[in-house]
Amino acid sequence: MGQVHRAGRPVETDIDAYRRVRGRFLELIEGLSAEDLALQSMPDASPGKWHLGHVSWFFETMILKERPGYMPVDSRLNLVFNSYYEALGPRVARAERGLLSRPSLEEVLAYRREIDRRMETVLARGLADDRERYLFELGLNHEQQHQELFLMDLLNLMASSPLEPAAYGREPREAPLERARGGWAAFDGGLVEIGAGDQGFAFDNERPVRKVWLEPYSLAADLVTCGDWLGFMADGGYRRPELWLADGWVTVRAQAWEAPLYWRREKVDAEDWRLMTLAGPQAIDPTAPVRHVSLYEADAFARWSGRRLPTEAEWEHAVRSRPDAFSNLYGEAWQWTADAYAPYPGFRPTEGTAAEYNGKFMANQAVLRGGAFATPAGHARPSYRNFYYPPQRWMFSGLRLAADGA
Ligand code: AVJ
Ligand code: FE
Repeated sequence: MGQVHRAGRPVETDIDAYRRVRGRFLELIEGLSAEDLALQSMPDASPGKWHLGHVSWFFETMILKERPGYMPVDSRLNLVFNSYYEALGPRVARAERGLLSRPSLEEVLAYRREIDRRMETVLARGLADDRERYLFELGLNHEQQHQELFLMDLLNLMASSPLEPAAYGREPREAPLERARGGWAAFDGGLVEIGAGDQGFAFDNERPVRKVWLEPYSLAADLVTCGDWLGFMADGGYRRPELWLADGWVTVRAQAWEAPLYWRREKVDAEDWRLMTLAGPQAIDPTAPVRHVSLYEADAFARWSGRRLPTEAEWEHAVRSRPDAFSNLYGEAWQWTADAYAPYPGFRPTEGTAAEYNGKFMANQAVLRGGAFATPAGHARPSYRNFYYPPQRWMFSGLRLAADGA
C-alpha cells in the first residue's frame, strides 16, 4: 500500500493521510449552523458549504475522473464547484457562490462522503503511478489550503454581523504561539539556493531550485506586534502620505483605513481598540503579532520603522540556515515579502488540468512566506509561496522586518 512520508513521523498510509486531512475539515464545522456555512460576506470569500464541496470536487476531477470508465457522482456539480479552471467549462461566478441555496449543506456533506468512499477504494488498491500520487498529494494540500481559506472567510462573515458572533469557544490554533526571542539574525548573503528540490511534496510554484545573490542583511527574530502597530498608528501612520506607496495611499483614502482589518474602537472616538476574532471580540494584546494587514500597510510600517520587508530569498535563506533564531515562522501569521509573485527560472506548471492551479495567477500579486495559526500542521515549509493582492487583508497576514547589512 502507498505511503506518504512526513517529516518527524515514521510513515503514514495513504488512507490514514486522507482521513487525517479530510477529518480536520469536519472538526472545523462542528457546532456551526447551516446558515453559518451558506452565507458569503464578500466577493473574495466563499461560503463554508462551497469550500466543503469544492475540495471534494477537486479529488473527483483531478483523480477519479481521470480513470477509465469513471461515472461522476452528479455531473451538474461541476458548474457549482469548479473554482477557476477554464479548461473544465463554465461555472458560477465566485461573487455569486452565496446564492447557492442548493445543493443544501446535507447534500454537500453526502457528496463529500461519496467522494471519500470512492477515493478510499482507489487508495486501498493503490495509486496507479507517480503522476496520480502527485495529484493525490496535491488534493490533500489543496484541501488544507481551503481549510485555512474557510477560516478566513468565516471570520469575515462573523465580523460582518453587528452581533459579533464567536464562531468557536476559542481560536482554532494548529500550533502554540511562540514567545518572542528579541533581536535580529544577521546573514552574510552571497550566492544562495532557494526553492523546493525533487524530494517530497511541493507546489509547482516552489520549483525548480534556483540560485540568488544576496547582499548582507538581517531579519527580525520576531513578528511585528499589535503594540508596535499601536505606535505606528499613534505616530500618524495612517495619515502620512510620505510613508505609503502611491497605490497604498490611494487605498488608505478610498477605504478610510485607520487600523488593520477587524480592529474596532470600543466607542466612537474612543482611543482604545478591540479586535474581532474567530473567538469573538477580544481586547488587543500588545505583545501578540499583528494580523490582517495588507502589503501596503506592511510596507508603510516598515518604512516608518526605518526598515524594509524581506525578499523571498532573504526569508528562505534565513530560515533554512538558522531556523532556531526565529519565533513564529509558521504558526501565527503569514509574512509579507517585498517580492512580486512570479515564476522561478525554469518554472513548469503541473501537467494536465492542474496546470491552472498556480501559474496563471503570476501577475499583480505579492508573496507571503511562513504560515498562520490556522494553517494545518505540517502544511507549510521553507520554500512555500503564498500569494495575495497588495490591498487584501482578510487573510491571516502579518510581517517580519528586514534590514540592510549584517
Ligand atoms: C495560495 C491561498 C492564494 O486561495 O486561490 C486554493 C490557494 N489554490 N485552490 C487561493 C488555492 C487553489 C490559493 N492561495
Ligand atoms: Fe481550490
